[in-house]
Amino acid sequence: PAPNRVKIVEVGPRDGLQNEKSVISPDVKVELINRLGKAGMTAIEAGSFVSPKWVPQVIHQHFISYATNAHGITSDAKMAGTGEVISKMTRLPGRHYPVLIPNLKGLEHLLNLLAKHPPSPSSPPPTDEIAIFSAATDEFSKANTNCTVAESLARLEPVATTALQKGLRVRGYVSVVITCPYSGEVDYTKVKSVSRALLDMGCYEVSLGDTVGTGNPTSIREMLETVMGGSNGLPAQQLAAHFHDTFGTAVANVMTAIDMGIRTVDSAVGGLGGCPYSPGATGNVATEDVMYALKDSKYSVAGDLEAMVDIGAWISDLLGRQNASRAGRAITAR
Ligand code: HMG
Ligand code: MG
Repeated sequence: PAPNRVKIVEVGPRDGLQNEKSVISPDVKVELINRLGKAGMTAIEAGSFVSPKWVPQVIHQHFISYATNAHGITSDAKMAGTGEVISKMTRLPGRHYPVLIPNLKGLEHLLNLLAKHPPSPSSPPPTDEIAIFSAATDEFSKANTNCTVAESLARLEPVATTALQKGLRVRGYVSVVITCPYSGEVDYTKVKSVSRALLDMGCYEVSLGDTVGTGNPTSIREMLETVMGGSNGLPAQQLAAHFHDTFGTAVANVMTAIDMGIRTVDSAVGGLGGCPYSPGATGNVATEDVMYALKDSKYSVAGDLEAMVDIGAWISDLLGRQNASRAGRAITAR
């Protein structure tokens, strides 16, 4: 890729919607993904195959009406119907639609689904990519996936190996790279070692999550210097910036990461979402804000800003929340 090409991974349908308080039907998710594809997003995180039991209380309550049937709570909670979503959505050629997978059970669900949809020239597979996730602290890892970081890496290893054998691309995430909601300041050397472990498993890229959104350009720079520097430093081309905007610094943090050579940015249309295991944290940096910040710069990015603004306004309206994209609000108000 050209050195000044910035790639956006649109995570709104997964990271965004997983924490929304209102219930979102699979059909709306399909429409969101289809609109994002039309607007030129080349990578769209479509959902997750996680345990329905691991739904945070606030979301759980909202999903009970949606997910409960005569048999109690079905498998369809929270990231409900990701299988349905990825089977129904339009898969544009050359695009990627990763789904989050926490363990072998989640991978099995995905592989069963893929077996039911053998690809043909006119119909690409529902997805060709998974994302696996660990964290920089045991405290967060336990809250999010019920195991320590070391245990999570051991659990993810066979997931990555099997997925690669099946021809899937594997992306990795490290959460809480700046601060942890349960243990405070994070040791950046831990971010580095966990990222290295994910690359060693065969991840083509590791996305660094400022899950709580407390980072600022100074701490982001220090963290990246640690991760990319020294012996065995990780190359910028294999890292992505995944920043939440709790303190309003996410755009500045993204620009810092780009300045340091990172060329992949995770963002969510309308700044959707938050993290269920990071109380008080707000959504991802808004895709529209990142696109606006890069406008007229030496960097180029795929996607149509005006179309993204329309999608941000539409989905915010539908969710009954204020559009969290500042650029989106400003452009809509014109
Ligand atoms: P556990 O309770 O230790 O797992 O959870 P378990 O193996 O004991 O299973 C418990 C029950 O869940 C069993 O059901 C399993 O069958 C079922 P039962 O037998 O009791 O009826 N189960 C599953 N069902 C469906 N799909 C599965 C699955 N696995 C087990 N894959 C586990 C461990 C990892 C499963 C759980 O903790 C989990 O699903 N965690 C995910 C939580 C989550 O979704 N977090 C949000 C995503 S991460 C994030 O947002 C951060 C990120 O954006 C980056 C950043 O911002 O930092 C990526
Ligand atoms: Mg996130």
